[in-house]
Amino acid sequence: MIGEISDQGGQGHARPCDIGDGEALSKLIEDVVSDHGRLDILVNNAGITRDGLLLRMSDEDFDDVIRVNLRSCMVACRAAARPMMRAKYGRIINIGSVSGITGNPGQANYATAKAGLIGLTKTIAKELGPKGVTANVIAPGFIQTDMTEVLGDMIKNEVVPRIPLRRIGQPEDIAAATSYLASEQAGYVTGQVLVVDGGMAS
Ligand SMILES: NC(=O)c1ccc[n+]([C@@H]2O[C@H](COP(=O)([O-])OP(=O)(O)OC[C@H]3O[C@@H](n4cnc5c(N)ncnc54)[C@H](O)[C@@H]3O)[C@@H](O)[C@H]2O)c1
Repeated sequence: MIGEISDQGGQGHARPCDIGDGEALSKLIEDVVSDHGRLDILVNNAGITRDGLLLRMSDEDFDDVIRVNLRSCMVACRAAARPMMRAKYGRIINIGSVSGITGNPGQANYATAKAGLIGLTKTIAKELGPKGVTANVIAPGFIQTDMTEVLGDMIKNEVVPRIPLRRIGQPEDIAAATSYLASEQAGYVTGQVLVVDGGMAS
């Protein structure tokens, strides 16, 4: 990814961090701000699944998914809020899921985290809006990544026929929506959930 940025004349830096570790994540954001002097855009994208039906779901699998998929976003937004408010500018984009809107069997933990992300983002939009900071959620449907690779032929046989646009989404579909919400043009859009799912959950 850094190579692609350099190829197009930009500069990219990658910093590894376990986002489940709140202290490390806060420090990462503080370091970025102190190294670059500002933070314009925060995209909270990393996430995990630990699927299992409710009756068999362990407390640990529930807590892990909430910590990595939800608490990390609160921690990152909290660390980003001050520099963004100071600059009177910021774009926060949290990657949710249609599971957080519709629910999904086997995903009590994941759907809860992604639903929580909507409440978190709408709250941040209200708290930081007066300081020029927008906060929105993108809710993808099925996107072709490592996360959905494990589902194998089930996607082709059972999911695609239920998608009005008759294809699984590509990472580029989410990148385009993210790029819009991160842009100057989206300056009057905040507290929204942009569903990018080929029409599946409509
Ligand atoms: N793929 C889909 O169909 C789909 C659908 C809806 C929502 N989403 C959401 O999109 C986002 C991206 O998912 P994806 O499909 O690319 O998944 P993925 O499994 O392909 O990639 C997830 C990334 O998160 C990173 N990650 C996981 N735990 C981490 C941690 N503790 N600290 C730091 N990094 C960590 C992984 O290293 C990996 O790079 C996630 O928030 C996911 O919930 C994906």
